[in-house]
Amino acid sequence: MIVSTKELFKHAYGKYAIGAYNINNLEQTMGLFHGNLDSKAPFIIQISKGARSYTDKRMLEAMIRMADALFPDAIFAVHLDHGDEEAALDCINSGFYSSVMIDASMKPYEENIAITARIVKAAHAREISVEAELGQLGGVEEHISVSEDQVHLTDPVQAEDFVKKSGCDSLACAIGTSHGAYKFAGSQGIHFEIIAAIQKLLPGFPLVMHGSSSVPKSEVDRINAAGGAMKNAKGVDASQFLKAAKLGVTKVNIDTDGRLVWCRVHREYFKEHPENFDLRPPGKVFMAEYANYIVEKNNYLGSSGQLDAVRVFLKKT
Ligand code: G3H
Ligand code: 13P
Ligand code: ZN
Repeated sequence: MIVSTKELFKHAYGKYAIGAYNINNLEQTMGLFHGNLDSKAPFIIQISKGARSYTDKRMLEAMIRMADALFPDAIFAVHLDHGDEEAALDCINSGFYSSVMIDASMKPYEENIAITARIVKAAHAREISVEAELGQLGGVEEHISVSEDQVHLTDPVQAEDFVKKSGCDSLACAIGTSHGAYKFAGSQGIHFEIIAAIQKLLPGFPLVMHGSSSVPKSEVDRINAAGGAMKNAKGVDASQFLKAAKLGVTKVNIDTDGRLVWCRVHREYFKEHPENFDLRPPGKVFMAEYANYIVEKNNYLGSSGQLDAVRVFLKKT
């Protein structure tokens, strides 16, 4: 069942965080639904701008509609990840998305407010909620690379002003994490003092943590042992997700770790079966491994086992 992101946040706030997982293809979609149902977790499906243009956005949307029909027990929201104004308006007008992210964090502060406010106006007219971003995360997203010295952690006082002026429904904050597999040197320390300060100024307001992959060394080692050439890097310590959730982080964005699972499965499969050329055998292994990976993440997020409670909550509201 596709539900509003807002309702999922209401149920989760202060108790656990919802996993927001990016999808690009069929195998990821199947693994995602199986993993969330196996762990009885509500979840958010994210579609990025890059994913929308990888083949055709309508293919991804159609897959989600079909998965909704195939897995009637699943409860999830559909979200545009890192949208610009054009993509956000397109998603709002499509009527399919539960929420959109407008990422104008690279613009000057007043311009970020103005762009976000325009999207909020269009989205709220159709009961769609809006995630905005304030501050600059590091790492690499499609088309954008932010180096360590360009990172700006979110200023809590500015966050309060931004939320009031823009009218956004949730806020992605720069709190020490970064995007991609090649995160910064050293580990990704989450700045809990910033999250706590924002929560104090904006009690009950949902916060979003991007760049939350852990880049497990075990995955990187297996990829490299099977012919890969990945540099070592450390990501976020997943055992800290719940601490962040208690401070108002209700959505945790994870993408890179899923790509590592894909890369590891396919490299190992073809190394072990050099005679094979068929896509289905590794695809089968990938779907099962991807589901396991989702289960593991949901356990850290505390979203595991919340599905029935969310169903009851949605009926009441
Ligand atoms: O933060 C970005 C997400 O990991 C999506 O990545 O833009 O390459 O689809 P993408
Ligand atoms: P990772 O690159 O750490 O998985 O972050 C994903 C993300 O923030 C998607 O918006
Ligand atoms: Zn992100």
